[in-house]
Amino acid sequence: PERGCLSIIVLGASGDLAKKKTFPALFNLYRQGFLQSNEVYIFGYARTKISDDELRDRIQGYLPHGKDGTEDVSNFLQLIKYVSGSYDDPEGFKALDKAISEHEISKQSMEGSSRRLFYLALPPSVYPQVCKMIKNYSMNKSDLGGWTRIVVEKPFGRDLASAEELSSQIGELFEEPQIYRIDHYLGKELVQNLLVLRFANRFFLPLWNRDNIANVQIVFREDFGTEGRGGYFDQYGIIRDIIQNHLLQVLCLVAMEKPVSLKPEHIRDEKVKVLQSVLPIKDEEVVLGQYEGYKDDPTVPDNSNTPTFATAILHIHNERWEGVPFILKAGKALNSRKAEIRVQFKDVPGDIFKCQKQGRNEFVIRLQPSEAIYMKLTVKQPGLEMSTAHSELDLSYRQRYQGVVIPEAYERLILDTIKGDQQHFVRRDELKAAWEIFTPLLHRIDNGKLKSLPYKPGSRGPAEADQLLERAGYVQTHGY
Ligand code: BG6
Repeated sequence: PERGCLSIIVLGASGDLAKKKTFPALFNLYRQGFLQSNEVYIFGYARTKISDDELRDRIQGYLPHGKDGTEDVSNFLQLIKYVSGSYDDPEGFKALDKAISEHEISKQSMEGSSRRLFYLALPPSVYPQVCKMIKNYSMNKSDLGGWTRIVVEKPFGRDLASAEELSSQIGELFEEPQIYRIDHYLGKELVQNLLVLRFANRFFLPLWNRDNIANVQIVFREDFGTEGRGGYFDQYGIIRDIIQNHLLQVLCLVAMEKPVSLKPEHIRDEKVKVLQSVLPIKDEEVVLGQYEGYKDDPTVPDNSNTPTFATAILHIHNERWEGVPFILKAGKALNSRKAEIRVQFKDVPGDIFKCQKQGRNEFVIRLQPSEAIYMKLTVKQPGLEMSTAHSELDLSYRQRYQGVVIPEAYERLILDTIKGDQQHFVRRDELKAAWEIFTPLLHRIDNGKLKSLPYKPGSRGPAEADQLLERAGYVQTHGY
């Protein structure tokens, strides 16, 4: 591993994302020995004028077991320093640079270079100015080498044009290998497993195509609404919040061809090809919904048409997938919290058991909660009769990997940014291709041409979505 001073600078240090995700992930990395006290220093930067201790107090309660105040917790908190300043003020960024440099000087006896990781836990509207400030005043300038990297969070724009504008503004200041666009779904254990499952198992190689697969569903459900985030959410809606990024990234990994190697660029090249092969989305293959009560939030306008639920069918125009619907579905305030991939196979031709009504073969990857991989298959019902039953081959992580801690997505991704591994980050051309798919549809929704149907909180979403699935050839199986 690289050695030398590592400064992690969390901009927007007192915001929600930093408190709930960034600092807890850093703490977990620290606890596991990935951040060495003799190399690392963490800087919080935000506008509020508070002291180091006040920031530490604000963070502590969000750390795993933080309230217990263990030795780990207090040692970790001692690594954090706070600098206040605004996001467009050179003075603030000069002060930040000074604080970082002091830390670096104090560690000068160490071999190696200076590494500066800037984590922008901020709204995208300030990315360009913050990047400019970093570039002008807070970059690593050490003669000993090292690097400066920038981590940014979605939403990267609202549509193709705004995303491209944002990309060029940041692209003028930093090179692509310095920019880490986080999509935290790429840090989830079972999303990372997709590559292995698909390309290290002989089972799947001959079956993974239009000859055998009837349809693929990628589903995200939450059993709570937009509580407290209505203002943000209403400007974006479920397609921009979940589908255009998280679900589309999963689709890429399910549908892509085998990469030449595991090199990040080889993998990302294949993902881009999938995105570029997606056909324009048709209005009749989309169902939008908005849960009743969504507009009770005072920050949501009374006439909002913003979808909190959407099902959209994507078609990939290539040799492997022609004719196979990829059904992307996401919703808030539904009946359960779950994210899963369901690959449904075609019926067995010439079924001599007449068992097809019981359900098709399905391969299911449950991303959360309770990670699992299972296959639904037909077996003989045990007993004297020759009858069939639908059953499962089940790999539930909780049982199979008892005692193994599955890392949080953010933990893994932050570690990757320190190592300089961009495999699980979204490349600029990938982002562009993802926006190309959804922008025309989003514009039609924004212009009111497509309406969100009401649905009851705690339901499955609008019934029209299930009808759309049926039309797409999805056969409901029971059980699991
Ligand atoms: C975020 C969305 O990106 O992902 C949220 O903005 C959503 O609306 C969250 O709740 C879901 O993440 P996870 O990891 O809980 O599935």
